[in-house]
Amino acid sequence: KELRIFCPATIANVACGFDVLGLCLDHIGDEMVVRKTGSGQVTISRIEGQDLPLEAANNVAGVSAMALLKALGSKQGFDMEIHKKIKPGSGIGSSAASAAGAVFAINRLLGEPFTLNELIPFAMEGEKLASGALHADNVAPALLGGFSLVRSYDPLDVIRLHTPGQLYATIIHPQIEVKTADARSVLKHSVPLKKAIAQWGNVGGLVSGLYTEDYDLIGRSLHDGIVEPLRSLLIPRFDQVKQASAEAGALGSGISGSGPSIFALSKGEHTAKKVAEAMTQVYADSGVAFDVHVSGI
Ligand code: HSE
Repeated sequence: KELRIFCPATIANVACGFDVLGLCLDHIGDEMVVRKTGSGQVTISRIEGQDLPLEAANNVAGVSAMALLKALGSKQGFDMEIHKKIKPGSGIGSSAASAAGAVFAINRLLGEPFTLNELIPFAMEGEKLASGALHADNVAPALLGGFSLVRSYDPLDVIRLHTPGQLYATIIHPQIEVKTADARSVLKHSVPLKKAIAQWGNVGGLVSGLYTEDYDLIGRSLHDGIVEPLRSLLIPRFDQVKQASAEAGALGSGISGSGPSIFALSKGEHTAKKVAEAMTQVYADSGVAFDVHVSGI
């Protein structure tokens, strides 16, 4: 039996929610084909689109799959084919798409012994291989869809949040590579109380705005005074993109995950497309190759 699945890209952090908030992109992602085999092992027979390790123990999808099978005590073999469309190091959850896709498909082929929430820790093992950190803010929305909140890591407590119907994301990806591990190493380990107060005010505001579908409140809450000032230095023309997005009508913007992609959220697809044009203008003469996408959430 085999399954062909879509493995969505995701935007982690969503400005104010470093390591706790993430959202799933409806129209950007990889494809994966997963099938049962008699080999008793996890294998990856093909990866198309990117040069990534085929050995299961060195591949995020392989590691996540093996974590799931180990927890079940299962000796069932599985083979995976991965068709990568999300570039690794782009900041829209490339490793998470493969990690989440692997555990989702295997769970389905095994008759769903786990709930979607229970799959998150297995996919996090893959993320750990990719970035050295056990963060869930990409794998959770990739598995659950829409927005999700990691209320707590210990114990793991992930909540799927309401997603307003008219919210669209615009993403510009400048084609420079920023490794998550490097982007984490520039962060400070302590946060001044004043900045923390502003940040948790915004997280609460954003979550409230999602549930009440209050787009202005969502926009007012899309700020990050802790991580963005440090990481934005790694991203060409970051401030201009933010400004151009706001002028084009975006609700707010920020770094997508650990960058270098920049995202903006807008009310309605029409505005999201105008934001895409504005972002394109900023990069047009920059000498940096880039691509721009609009997606529902
Ligand atoms: N929360 C993680 C980070 C996401 O910002 O490092 C990485 O995609």
